[in-house]
Amino acid sequence: LFSAIEQAPADPILGLTDAFKADARSNKINLGVGIYKNEAGQTPVLDSVKKAEALLLETQTSKSYLGIEGVAEYSALVQDLLFGESSDIRQSNRLFTAQAPGGTGSLRVAAEFLVNVANVSTIWVSNPTWANHNAIFTAAGLTVKSYRYYDKQNHGLDFDGMLADLSQVEANDVVLVHGCCHNPTGIDLNLEQWQQLANLCKQQQAMPLFDFAYQGFANGVEEDAAGLRLVASIVPELMVANSFSKNFGLYNERIGGITLLSESTDSGQRAFSQVKKTIRAIYSNPPAHGALIVATILANPELKQLWIEEVKQMRERIHKMRTLFVSKLADAGITQDFSFIERQNGMFSFSGLSVEQVDRLKQEFGIYIVGSGRISVAGMTRSNMDDLVAGIKAVL
Ligand code: LMR
Repeated sequence: LFSAIEQAPADPILGLTDAFKADARSNKINLGVGIYKNEAGQTPVLDSVKKAEALLLETQTSKSYLGIEGVAEYSALVQDLLFGESSDIRQSNRLFTAQAPGGTGSLRVAAEFLVNVANVSTIWVSNPTWANHNAIFTAAGLTVKSYRYYDKQNHGLDFDGMLADLSQVEANDVVLVHGCCHNPTGIDLNLEQWQQLANLCKQQQAMPLFDFAYQGFANGVEEDAAGLRLVASIVPELMVANSFSKNFGLYNERIGGITLLSESTDSGQRAFSQVKKTIRAIYSNPPAHGALIVATILANPELKQLWIEEVKQMRERIHKMRTLFVSKLADAGITQDFSFIERQNGMFSFSGLSVEQVDRLKQEFGIYIVGSGRISVAGMTRSNMDDLVAGIKAVL
C-alpha cells in the first residue's frame, strides 16, 4: 500500500519551522510562522491565561465529553467578542457558534458544511492569501478561485481589481475575506470598502466567510471587528471562522470557532444542526482546555481587562518593531523605500523580497521567512534586528 507513495512537499510555513530547528547556526532567526515573540525572543503564556488556568485547576471536577458544539458558555462569549455585546446582531437570535480546533479546524468545518450541506461549489480567495487556505478548501471539495487584492506597485490594496473580479461571483459562491491583518500582506479594507464589498456580495447573492485570526492585532479588540460588524449589518447571511491562537497565545490548544449569521432564527437552527452533524463525523466533539481558558477570561471582567491590556502590549511591540525595522533599513544605506511596512497591520510584513532573495537569506544567513516574501514581524526583537537588516541588505 505504502511503497508507491511519493514524498509530500514540506509545508510552506510549518515546514520552515522544521528546517529552522535543524539549522545549527547560533545566530539563526525564525521569521516564518506567525508566532508572537517578546523582546527576549520567547512566546510566553499570557498572565490572563495563567490565572484562568489556575482557577480551572482548582474548580474543574470532570473531564467528561463536551457537547458537539463545545463548552456551553463559550459560544455566547465568542459572539460578544465578534459582534459586540449589546449590538442588534448579537441580540437578534440569528447567531450560532460551535467551538472548533483553531482557525484551520474552523475553516475545515465551514468548508465541509458548505460543500456537503449548502451545495456550495466555489470559494473565492484573495491573491495572495494564507498558504493553507487552498489546501483546506480543496481537501473539502471546493473549487478555489482568486480575486485581485495586492497592488505590487504601490504596496497597497488593489480595490478596483478586487471589485472587478468579485463582480463575477455567482449566487451561492462564497467569498473568503480576512477580518483584519490580512495574511500575508497586512493590508486591510477601510470601512467604506467593507461596505462596498458587502453590497456586492448581497447583490450577487454570494456569502462572505470571514477568516478572523488576528482580532486585536491591528487597532484594538473592538476596533478590529468593525469591518465584520458592518458587513453583518448588510448581508443576510455570513460565516466567521475565528482563531484564538494569536490573541490569547493559545497556539497549541487549538481553539477557535465557527459562527453562522443566518437570515432567520429558524433557518439558523437548521443550518447549525448540520454544522454539528459535520463536526460529529470529523472529530466528534472538541477538546475542552482552550475553550475553558477563553471562556473563563471573557466572562470575568478583571481577567478580560488584563487580557485586553496584554493584546495591546503585543500589538504595540510589533508596531515598534515595524518602525525600528524601517529605520534600520534606511540607516544601513538601503535606498529602496520600505516605509509601507509601517502601514501594514498585524504580525506580517509583505516585504516584496523575491523567492531567490528569500532562499539566499535562509542559506547564507540562517534567516527564515516564507517564500512569498512574508516576514513575521512578531519574531523581530531588538537583538536580532541588526543581523536581519545586514542579511536583507546583502541579498538586495
Ligand atoms: C501563519 O500564517 O504563520 C500561521 O497562521 C500559522 C499557520 O498555521 O500557518
